[in-house]
Amino acid sequence: MPNKFKQPDLSSLAKLTSPIWIVTSAVGDRRGGLVATMVVSASIVETAPRLLIGLAKRHATEQLVSRSLAFAAHLITADQADLLARFGTTSSRDTDKFSGLECRTGVTGMPILEDVLAWFECRVEQTMDTGDRTVYLGAVVAAGTNSNPNDRPMTTVDIPHQLPTEVLTLMKTQRAADAIVDAKSIADWRRSLR
Ligand SMILES: Cc1cc2nc3c(=O)[nH]c(=O)nc-3n(C[C@H](O)[C@H](O)[C@H](O)COP(=O)(O)O)c2cc1C
Repeated sequence: MPNKFKQPDLSSLAKLTSPIWIVTSAVGDRRGGLVATMVVSASIVETAPRLLIGLAKRHATEQLVSRSLAFAAHLITADQADLLARFGTTSSRDTDKFSGLECRTGVTGMPILEDVLAWFECRVEQTMDTGDRTVYLGAVVAAGTNSNPNDRPMTTVDIPHQLPTEVLTLMKTQRAADAIVDAKSIADWRRSLR
């Protein structure tokens, strides 16, 4: 029987621009954080702001969010490549990503980075297991902005211009490895639903 599956053309997705976020969380004195693009504003109600985030279950930060049911999401400026490399290429299990950074504890106990464009502290209201990731709906309980008029948020368009080649190569390699693990997690999850 011929294989009817036709690989969809995903090239338009690769052209989408996304803001770069840093999501942090903590349980007791264990804290972690990662770079995330899967973060979106999920409410138009000014009195009920919400963010939706998607975190891979194997990441240390996801495990902290699943236990604390809280997180902080930070927007960084276009030139904060040091934060991008720090939070996006290593695991919080192996290193204290906050070392040397100005940081304080927010109302939910989450670590808030001081030197960022803006931050949003959230309490989780709902979770959704999607196999490879957990999607969290967070109610924004505190937020702040440090921007000056010239600042703009870093987006995916900035990444190739801001990082040295060796860090870019590391990110690409990690993404490819992550995609293999994610593919298996999604397939296992789909089988479990049958
Ligand atoms: C540009 C970029 C976007 C990323 N977006 C996400 C994301 O939306 N969700 C996620 O779970 N990981 C994402 N990652 C991967 C994590 O940031 C990365 O694996 C991190 O080192 C995990 O850290 P942790 O184990 O300390 O949590 C992204 C990485 C990069 C470089």
